[in-house]
Amino acid sequence: MTQVPARDAEHYALGTVGVSKNFGGVQALHRLSISIPKGQITCVIGPNGSGKSTLINILSGVLPMDSGMVIVDGVGLRTVHPYETPDLGITRTFQDVRLFNQISVMDNIMVVLTERKLWPSLFQRSKSEHRQRAEQVLRDVGMWDKRDAMAEDLSYGQRKLLEMARAMALDVNIYLFDEPFAGLFPQMLVRVKDILKQLRAREKSILFISHNMEIVRELSDHLIVMDSGELLVEGDVDEVLAKQEVIEAYLGA
Ligand SMILES: Nc1ncnc2c1ncn2[C@@H]1O[C@H](COP(=O)(O)OP(=O)(O)O)[C@@H](O)[C@H]1O
Ligand SMILES: [Mg+2]
Repeated sequence: MTQVPARDAEHYALGTVGVSKNFGGVQALHRLSISIPKGQITCVIGPNGSGKSTLINILSGVLPMDSGMVIVDGVGLRTVHPYETPDLGITRTFQDVRLFNQISVMDNIMVVLTERKLWPSLFQRSKSEHRQRAEQVLRDVGMWDKRDAMAEDLSYGQRKLLEMARAMALDVNIYLFDEPFAGLFPQMLVRVKDILKQLRAREKSILFISHNMEIVRELSDHLIVMDSGELLVEGDVDEVLAKQEVIEAYLGA
């Protein structure tokens, strides 16, 4: 573990310092250093294959990094194990939705709550408390009326909402959403936007990946632009979008 400057811990929930990741000959991330401000919505944009999902995979411990550090609340970590991330206050969704198809919507949430021994022994939570929590998150994402449906019978948009509800079941501080808006109809877009805004209102720190520039402008406070596994630019969303190199490299105008 490495202690980083206190100023960073005060302002940033999460970050990377010089993170590299190779897959065979492919350099997915090259010495990437980024910061995710506390209590804000950060968006990552960049062309396909620029390393956006790999960044989330490393921040959530799904993939080991080759070199560099992940910074969580001011502490530098050279390895992040996926089973540790809830304790680090980190949760995520996957670009390809991952649910238990053969069980109900409600049970998809209950599994998350009961699988983890959040507070063993003394603070063991009862099933009714888990049910209350599951009801809460399903209401938060507007899926309570679907609680008894089988996950496999949901529409694509509903599956994405359930995936978000599963990520939100543990009430942590950092939310990483990999393309939550991709492939959604307008009505669902509004619901997912509301979920992100709701989380920000509760002072959570959110990172999402998107290609929809209208949504990026509307929701993001902080913007990270990646290209070929490297950071092109990051900062306040309006300042970043005003930069010529971003327009040229990504927006193609
Ligand atoms: N598990 C993996 N195995 C091999 N190559 C991968 C793997 N994950 C990502 N890559 C490669 O790394 C690069 C970055 O991928 P990714 O992070 O998925 O990009 P993005 O999410 O920005 O589209 C791509 O060239 C991709 O093919
Ligand atoms: Mg991706």
